[in-house]
Amino acid sequence: MPPRKIIIDTDPGQDDAVAILLALASPEEIDLLGITCVAGNVALPLTTRNARMVCELATRRDVAIYAGCDRPLGRDLVTAEYVHGKTGLDGPDLPEPQMLLQDQHAVEFIIETLRAHAPGTVTLCPIGPLTNIATAFNNAPDIIDKVQEIILMGGAYFEVGNVTPAAEFNIYVDPQAADIVFRSGVPLIVMPLDVTHKALVTVERNAAFRSLGTPVGIAVAQMTEFFERYDREKYGTLGAPLHDPCVTAYLIRPDLFSGRHVNVQVEVTSELTMGMTVADWWGVTQNAPNAVFIGDLNADGFFDLLTERLARL
Ligand code: BDR
Ligand code: CA
Repeated sequence: MPPRKIIIDTDPGQDDAVAILLALASPEEIDLLGITCVAGNVALPLTTRNARMVCELATRRDVAIYAGCDRPLGRDLVTAEYVHGKTGLDGPDLPEPQMLLQDQHAVEFIIETLRAHAPGTVTLCPIGPLTNIATAFNNAPDIIDKVQEIILMGGAYFEVGNVTPAAEFNIYVDPQAADIVFRSGVPLIVMPLDVTHKALVTVERNAAFRSLGTPVGIAVAQMTEFFERYDREKYGTLGAPLHDPCVTAYLIRPDLFSGRHVNVQVEVTSELTMGMTVADWWGVTQNAPNAVFIGDLNADGFFDLLTERLARL
C-alpha cells in the first residue's frame, strides 16, 4: 500500500511534537503533505515556532508549515501553559528555529490541497482545536466530500473532562468548530481521553526514549518528563498520557486500537457542559453513528512502535 497522504493540524505541545516526530519517522506509511498550526495549547506565534523546532529537531527543514487561525470561531482563546509550560514546548533546550513558515494561510493550504487531490485520498489529522478544519469546511464546502477520513485527538466519554469537569481541552477550546466537524459527514476516527489516558509514559518507557541516545530520543524524554508533572499530580498516574501520538500511531498500526462506531455530538450551548462530547457508546438512541470512538489500545505495542520509529530519526 502506498503511504497515506495526510495533513497534521496541530498546536504543539509536547505530545503534538511526539505525534509529528512519529509521522516523520514513518515514510512507508505516512506521506506528510504539510503541517498546519492553530492556536490552542499556546498562542499561534508559539505553536508555529514549536512546529518548526520539532521539524528541525528531526533535521526536516523541508516540511511545509503553515500558520492558521489565531482564535476559536466564537469564543475567546483558552490556553494550557499550566500543562505545557510558557513556551508550550518546555522541557528540552532546543534552538530557535531557522526555517521559514509558508506564506499561504493554513486554511487556504487545506482547501487547495483537497481540491488538488483525487477525492478520498487525503486524510486530515487534527491534534489541536478544530478551528482550521472547520474554517476550511465553512469557506469551501466542496472539499468536505473529498476528505478520506479525519483522525483526531479530542473528546472523552468515560473519562469526561480534563479542562472542565465535562470537556476535553481540544473540543472545549473551540466547540463550535468541533460541532461543524462532527456534523460534517466525513468518516471520523476519534482518540478521546478514554484511550489516551491509557498511553502513559512510565519511568521505563521514558528511559527507553532516553536510551536511544539521539537528540530526538533525549528531547522526547525531556518533553514527557516536563509535562508529566501535571498529570501525575492531578490523576496520580505513573506518567504523562501521550494523547496526540495516538493519531499518528493509528495510521501505522490501527490494529493496536479498538473502539465503537457510535453517534457523537458536541455540546455548544450549556456553559456548564460546553464542549462535552456526548457519545452514544451504549447505543441508546437511534442517532446514526458518525465516528469510531476509540476506547482502548495495546499500550506496550504503542510504546514499542514509538521507540522503534523514533530511533530512526
Ligand atoms: C489535548 O490537549 C492538549 O493539551 C494536548 O496537546 C492534546 O492535544 C489533550 O486534552
Ligand atoms: Ca495537541
